[in-house]
Amino acid sequence: MKLESYQQIKDDRLTHRGYDYERIAQEYQTPLYIFDEPSFIERVKGYRDQFQSEVFETEILYASKALLTKEIARLVARLDIGQDVVSAGEIYAGQAGGIDAKRMYFHGNNKTDQELLYAIKNGVGTIVLDNQSEAHRLNHLIQQSNEGHIQKVLLRVNPGIEASTHEYILTATNDSKFGENIHDSEIFMVISEIAALSHLNLVGFHSHIGSQIFEADSFLKASESLIDFAQKVMEQTALKITELNFGGGFGVYYTEEDQPFDVIDYLPRFVKQIEKAIQEAKLPIEKVAIEPGRSLVNASGSTLYRVGDLKQTLSGKHYLFVDGGMTDNIRPALYQAKYEAALVNKITDSAKASYTIAGKACESGDKIIESIMLPEATPGDLLLVNGTGAYNFTMASNYNYIPRPAMIHVTEETIKLTVKRDTLDDLVRNQL
Ligand code: LLP
Repeated sequence: MKLESYQQIKDDRLTHRGYDYERIAQEYQTPLYIFDEPSFIERVKGYRDQFQSEVFETEILYASKALLTKEIARLVARLDIGQDVVSAGEIYAGQAGGIDAKRMYFHGNNKTDQELLYAIKNGVGTIVLDNQSEAHRLNHLIQQSNEGHIQKVLLRVNPGIEASTHEYILTATNDSKFGENIHDSEIFMVISEIAALSHLNLVGFHSHIGSQIFEADSFLKASESLIDFAQKVMEQTALKITELNFGGGFGVYYTEEDQPFDVIDYLPRFVKQIEKAIQEAKLPIEKVAIEPGRSLVNASGSTLYRVGDLKQTLSGKHYLFVDGGMTDNIRPALYQAKYEAALVNKITDSAKASYTIAGKACESGDKIIESIMLPEATPGDLLLVNGTGAYNFTMASNYNYIPRPAMIHVTEETIKLTVKRDTLDDLVRNQL
């Protein structure tokens, strides 16, 4: 397993900033989500400081679907970046952690009336419209509830860019459910219509081409295509476009198969390219935003499991069972996602056997890793899976009534519990 900068080997054991995983496991139990705060803070600052322009205002919007807790929201608020939200729940959790609703961008392809009203009431700064029908619905809702309000909106458009990633997380193909397609012959009419709605102030466009994308080129192409489109809109309609949002999607390392580019290093070039294209297109752009989620949090998160039973099947497969699984990490089952892992108490032992790491849910697909070479494992060992910061906690479930894990944050000075483990009572809390 590739170690993170916060993981060190001490006396033949792996530690997190010097904290022994066995002691962590004894204090907080397993399975446990562990989040390294300093590395997250450093990355956010890196993005924020490198995504700067002298031509327009820039903003990093944290795509909080990747990982959102009150404590993460507190950090986001403190780090002075905005938040991409996709539901009333994310607005609520963001505000609970102190994020200013003005700095929220509300996405989603089917925001309900209740959610739109909730967003307006709570002062969400920007609503990213998914389609024409939503624009009319939002305008009508404002008219009925808050006559004087004018809501700043962007329109999500789909540039039809094919980037290589898993099809479930690809969002800008021509049959995608997200946004209005820029190649649609009626698009300029649709935009003029939205721009004419009296309670909406359409200032620009948003596009997001997908997630876990490794080619920097795809982002450049998508930005060129959006700028080119914005120029056409300015020519064909009376709309003044002052804001563009290029979405998220920067790929990260999970295993040796992944070769992500260095985003922090890339951002200044990306900004220069956008500046140039905007100047050439003579667009009056005042603000440009990006929305990274996974690339900000993934490497700061890991999951600690206790090894339970081991079993060899008739065909010779070695199963290593852990005390969590698809209920805390659905990604292998859903996207065939791959992970690396290590036995923290045997970190310096040499790998001897190939194991299939499986969870405890009643589902054959409940696996974390299909095949991994590890030192000989015994029940009671601790298995650590790295790169679980994004889309693990937020996609966890209570399948089989398995309680969701707790989460701790490790800081330079201390360890703090940020999410309590579900109790059995929590599992039936809403039931009458
Ligand atoms: N902006 C929009 C509009 C998005 O839809 C997304 C992700 C992002 C930003 C952030 O993308 P990121 O930087 O995190 O790649 N559950 C899947 C990923 C789904 C992503 C959905 N949208 C997974 O576990 O891989």
